[in-house]
This record gives sequence, structure tokens and C-alpha cells, in this order.
Amino acid sequence: TKEYATLIVTREGKVGLITLNRPKALNALNSQLVGELCEVLNIFDKDPEIGCIVITGGEKAFAAGADIKEMQSKTSVEAYSTAFLAPYDTIAATRKPIIAAVAGYALGGGCELAMSCDIILAAENAVFGQPEINLGIMPGAGGTQRLTRAVGKAKAMELCLTGRQMFADEAERSNLVSRIVPVESLHDEAMKTASKIADFPVHVVMMIKESINRGFVTTLSEGVRFERNQFYSLFATEDQKEGMAAFIEKRKPQFKNR
Ligand code: CAA
Repeated sequence: TKEYATLIVTREGKVGLITLNRPKALNALNSQLVGELCEVLNIFDKDPEIGCIVITGGEKAFAAGADIKEMQSKTSVEAYSTAFLAPYDTIAATRKPIIAAVAGYALGGGCELAMSCDIILAAENAVFGQPEINLGIMPGAGGTQRLTRAVGKAKAMELCLTGRQMFADEAERSNLVSRIVPVESLHDEAMKTASKIADFPVHVVMMIKESINRGFVTTLSEGVRFERNQFYSLFATEDQKEGMAAFIEKRKPQFKNR
């Protein structure tokens, strides 16, 4: 794997692991980091040897937000004409599942990055928040939208309007994260979950992700229709024949497309 200035990229089996690596800046998301992240996500997404992706940071910070030092002198014309935050759409458009393994601060763009992933696993010391209002700006990488869908209007309003930080237990209670694990087991738990996912047929995994995400952009009846057609299409696959035969023959399935 190529070397990156702001990331450590490794593979363990069929899991691609991306570690954000600007510890002195608490992994502040500058354009170089976001660019490198998009590049690696694209590579992993296309690579048939990868079935699931994990994004993590350090023990103190997953990411403390967009890089304020880089943003400070931007004009609105620059921000608009360079589509400054558009790379976040690439992250969300990744077709394979991404687990955000969050320890420490996930603030502003860091929280938005985690929410652009599919599963957030939180260490006991994780802290989430949208503190942009303290800087005279507002969330710009999906914070007002994804946080609201995850935790509901009242809590999203409060967090975005006051900049209050939310600790792991509250984040779990309000359904922002799938579960909380001790800091020292965050890496192992994330990798274990990711390799479990990566062991299933990749097309099924991708269809489930697509179907769940479809529900956020369409009506219930259209979402159910979309799901049903994907479900029907799976009966044309050898993995469906194998999965069901293995169940009936009381053996482990030997899936092909993984
Ligand atoms: N951008 C640039 N640098 C940052 C940063 C950020 N978002 N967050 C932290 N850093 C830097 C600090 O400037 C400091 O650098 P120096 O040593 O050179 O001074 C270093 O990281 C360590 O940070 P602190 O000394 O502040 O560490 P702390 O433990 O005292 O505080 C913190 C930790 C509460 C997370 C604090 O750093 C903080 O409030 N950070 C900013 C959080 C924030 O406002 N994020 C939102 C950014 S805007 C955004 O994200 C827009 C969007 O929607 C896309």
C-alpha cells in the first residue's frame, strides 16, 4: 500500500483500515487529509479483496473537526467555487460499509465524518458534538441533517445551537452509535465486526447498505419496493442457493462472492 502524509492505511484480511494520522492537530480534517481519505476509500471500494472498511483516529481524537487554521482565511467565493466540502459526499457515496471506530473527540467535521459512515462504534471516552456555532459558522458537512435523523430534532437542535458536547453514554442512548466498548478494545471490536461483515457475499452486503440508505431519501412505500426488488434479485445468485442448501444440510455455507 502507498504511503500517505495524513493517514495510515493497512489491510487485515478483507478489511481495509484507515487511521487518521495528524495527532498534533487532533486529526483536524484539512483538505490534504480529506483528499487522501477519498482516494483510499475509492481504492478500497473498487478492490474485490476488500469487503468492509474501518476508519479510526487516535485515543484522544477521532477528529476535532475541519481544520480551522486552513479555513480561517477562506472567502465564501472560494468555499463555493472550489466546492470545499464536496469530498464529504464521496465518503458517503462509498458502496461498501464503513465502520467509524471513535475514541475521544468527534467534533464538527469529525462528527460529520463519523455520521457519513455506516456504523459508529464508540469507545467509552468518545465525545460527539457540532461546535461550529462557537466559531461563527454552522455545520457544513451534513451535521444538521444526519445528526437530526440519528438523534431526533430536539437533541440535534440543542447540540447544534449550543455547541454542547455529548459523551458516549448519551450518544448510545440517543442512537447515534451502535454500541460502546472500552477504549483498549475499540480497535479489536471494530476489526472483528468488520471482518464478520467482510465474510459475507459482498453484493449482499452492498445491497443491504444501499437499501437502508435508500430509506433516508425516499418514502416508506418506495423504500419497501426498492428492498423487495433487491430481495427478489438475490434468488438469481449462487450464494442464495448455497446459503439455503447449507442451512438445510446443517453445514457452513461456502459463499462464492466474498
Ligand atoms: N482545526 C485545527 N486545529 C485544531 C483543531 C481544528 N478543528 N482542533 C484542535 N486543533 C489543534 C489546536 O489548535 C492545537 O494546536 P497547537 O498545539 O498548534 O495549538 C492542537 O490541535 C491541540 O488542541 P488543543 O490544545 O485545543 O487541545 P485541548 O485538549 O485543549 O482541546 C478540543 C481539545 C476541545 C477538541 C479543542 O481542540 C477544540 O475545541 N477544537 C476545535 C473543535 C471545533 O471547533 N471543531 C469544529 C471545526 S469547524 C467544522 O468542522 C466545520 C464543518 O462542519 C465541516
